[in-house]
Amino acid sequence: MKQNIQDILNRQIQLEASSSQTYLAMAVWAENKGYTGTTDFLYAHADEERMHMLKLIKFLNERGGEAVIPALNAPKSDYKDLHEVFSTLLEHELHVTDSINEIVYICLQEKDYTTHNFMQWYVSEQLEEEALARTVLDKLKLIGDDKGGLYLFDNDMKTIQAESQIQIQ
Ligand code: FEO
Repeated sequence: MKQNIQDILNRQIQLEASSSQTYLAMAVWAENKGYTGTTDFLYAHADEERMHMLKLIKFLNERGGEAVIPALNAPKSDYKDLHEVFSTLLEHELHVTDSINEIVYICLQEKDYTTHNFMQWYVSEQLEEEALARTVLDKLKLIGDDKGGLYLFDNDMKTIQAESQIQIQ
């Protein structure tokens, strides 16, 4: 595997790892605020990001590259409200999508069609993750600061969590 492909995959490993930590910190925040549905959703989302990281690690190692387990900065741990949590989440996912698209572009330039093919899974996954984050954020915008609405929203997150698990499997 070419060194530059190896390097960008290792950079993606770091990004998926930091995504996992970011969502884990969000889950802890939500748990301490008593948002139980959102907590479950975010813990599961953190696990998914770890799975995204592991998939890259295994691919790199299987193809004769060397996965590097990176040091990570501490994630943001305090949020003003659920709006800030989910707008940060969407922003983060958009950043991940940009990074995946760049990898796909470089794979084509380097004619590395195996990695290009492997990355298609991430392209589809990003579509789903962005759509989910937008749906959640749209709901929150409708609710605004209404406490009853936020309570129902949090309950709904349990259903959203279950549905997104079904889509992923
Ligand atoms: Fe692994 Fe949410 O991107």
